[in-house]
Amino acid sequence: MNAKRRPILAGNWKMNMTVTQARELASKLIPLVSSVKDRDIVLGPPFTALSAVAETIKGTNISLSAQNLHWEDKGAFTGEISADMLLDSGCKYVIIGHSERRQYFGETDETVNKKVKQALKKGLLPILCVGETLADREAGKLNETINRQVNGGLKDISTEDMKKIVIAYEPVWAIGTGKTATPDQANEVHALIRQKVKALYSADIAEGLRIQYGGSVTPENVSTLMAMPDIDGALVGGASLKPESFAALVNFK
Ligand code: 13P
Repeated sequence: MNAKRRPILAGNWKMNMTVTQARELASKLIPLVSSVKDRDIVLGPPFTALSAVAETIKGTNISLSAQNLHWEDKGAFTGEISADMLLDSGCKYVIIGHSERRQYFGETDETVNKKVKQALKKGLLPILCVGETLADREAGKLNETINRQVNGGLKDISTEDMKKIVIAYEPVWAIGTGKTATPDQANEVHALIRQKVKALYSADIAEGLRIQYGGSVTPENVSTLMAMPDIDGALVGGASLKPESFAALVNFK
């Protein structure tokens, strides 16, 4: 954490929660985090529950994120969701390039970049996900992979737009596995990303950039992660599905 950057705690609900369950989760969370003023709180329900959660959190200190979008404005793209639809459903953020989308749905740095551009064009704030697989790490390709994903995802993004982006570092081997990167391992990659953004933009932009860590974050390990100088937040899967555990995460000391 760094006093200059406002922490951002986001829950990625992935393919979980019916509309009824989503409403209940959000309703229970609201009073548990209502006194939080110095951090951003974001919920990422599945598309079908966005409107219901938007209604539930209206007027609170919680914001809404989608988990994906399409890069075109509208048209014959069966099964896809546009930026306008997300804005109309109450979204402020959109998660882009999550490793599960890269791994199972063929997303590439090129499609990720198109989505980042579309989100920015329409006024959604992108949470751009990057992260290496265990095979990348073991083959000594950590830096190469992160560089490729950061370069690719941010291709042709202006300095003004870069100020609106959050980057989430999620080592694929730490997602849903219970294996968290150690605070030092995570911070090392966060610092690398910040360095890269400094080279691409400027020291000011890099210093202002918020970088979340994701991968088996829990109420137990969040404080040691957030104590690291380059870790500015968390993108949380499993532990965001229960109001008590996500609230405990948000309220980290
Ligand atoms: P887990 O917290 O379940 O490991 O998931 C992390 C993640 O992928 C968040 O986007």
